Amino acid sequence: MSRVYLIGFMGSGKTTVGKQLARKMRWSFVDTDNIIEKELGITVQEVFDQLGEEWFREYEQKVLTKTTSFQNTIIATGGGTPCFYNNMDTIINNGLCIYLRMPPKEIVSRISQSQKIRPLVYNLTGIKLEKYVEKTLVERETVYLKAHLIADALNPNLIHTLEQQIKRYFGTIK
Ligand code: S3P
Repeated sequence: MSRVYLIGFMGSGKTTVGKQLARKMRWSFVDTDNIIEKELGITVQEVFDQLGEEWFREYEQKVLTKTTSFQNTIIATGGGTPCFYNNMDTIINNGLCIYLRMPPKEIVSRISQSQKIRPLVYNLTGIKLEKYVEKTLVERETVYLKAHLIADALNPNLIHTLEQQIKRYFGTIK
């Protein structure tokens, strides 16, 4: 099962890290939000607005299931993906699951500066955003911390460290 799943809160760098890792390892890269947007022809924000979060979560689960047949692929998931249905079991049983862990303050700062429109936080700023991130991160970590590996998302050597860990896991290097 040559698949790596990157999980973690919004803004923790799953897509950026995933792309860099894939390039370094000569693997493919996919982002589940991107697959959803391509398949539906609308943005995640529009899915939430027009069809609702529950509909989005069901579609997200289907997309996650499809990724279980991908080979040599780094898969960046949405921040909520592991936390719905039995998605975390699907992830754990079908690839190496890496949690990109980032302190809430840093997450808030990145979300605030990001161009990406995120339906769950787009109308939150300042203290409201901080409170939302702190509370939701505590809830979600009960799931995220089941990952096979927990990586410090702020490690300046992150890509190299992860590449070594992935190769060791898949038995490419000792
Ligand atoms: C979500 C995170 C988003 C996207 C959707 C819901 C979440 O992905 O899937 O807006 O529940 O945390 P990113 O983590 O890539 O921002």
